[in-house]
Amino acid sequence: RRRTGIGDLTAKKADGEPIVMVTAYDHPSAQVADAAGVDVVLVGDSAAMTVLGYDSTVPVTVDEMIMLARAVRRGLDGPLLVVDLPFGSYEGSDEAAVATALRFVKETGCDAVKIERGGSSVDRARAIVRAGVPVMGHVGLTPQTATALGGYRAQGRTAEEALAVCESALALQEAGCFSIVFEAIPSDVAAAIMPRVHVPVIGIGAGPAVDGQVLVFHDLLGIYGGRAARFVKRYDDLRERMIAGVAAYADDVRSSGYPAPEHGYSIPEAEYARLRT
Ligand code: KIV
Ligand code: NA
Repeated sequence: RRRTGIGDLTAKKADGEPIVMVTAYDHPSAQVADAAGVDVVLVGDSAAMTVLGYDSTVPVTVDEMIMLARAVRRGLDGPLLVVDLPFGSYEGSDEAAVATALRFVKETGCDAVKIERGGSSVDRARAIVRAGVPVMGHVGLTPQTATALGGYRAQGRTAEEALAVCESALALQEAGCFSIVFEAIPSDVAAAIMPRVHVPVIGIGAGPAVDGQVLVFHDLLGIYGGRAARFVKRYDDLRERMIAGVAAYADDVRSSGYPAPEHGYSIPEAEYARLRT
């Protein structure tokens, strides 16, 4: 399968063909996403919560994200690979942003990086793009700064907020982002912004007017315990199935149902006889 490029996403937008994006954080989930034929894989900093057990995306480090992204890269063939720059690794200056982005490209082999928010992130995006690294923007609910936004809540439900989301999106487009994520904004607001955005927009809780959708791997497969956001659609309940599988194994061991003869190795009779002499 040919590697998806940024041009393929642009072509899909032009053709009105929805773009499919999903997160992955390790080698098996990358292989699953690849085999399922998605267009884009994001090593999201949602990894902080889904696989590292932090209670927000804020604490995850560059080193942690790099380790996860390298595992994903090794499991990926077809999809475009985008990696989130973690909170605190790019906001301070253009130099910091470019250094972090280049480190991700060199050490993980990712195709692009994603950063959150408008404001100062617009300048950071411009600097990273100038350094030769494709950047995906992210507006609306931006979890890295959720506290400043008043918590994990939809953005753009007032006219002022909706205009702010629109301004951020247009500024990121102008800064050279090849694509932008819209997270948790009213469907009507997303639809109103769309005619002014000429790069592919990937939505999560942004309704159907955008060019594609992204969901967190653990959310869509029901691996992550805890309350899911409104926009999550569960396609399986793998957490329950995994618990049932491990519990069945535990029962089996405790009732001597495992191991059975076929799970053991044998020694040739002559060797066994020699052993006993
Ligand atoms: O970290 C993440 O998973 C994300 C997507 C939800 C867009 O940023
Ligand atoms: Na993220």
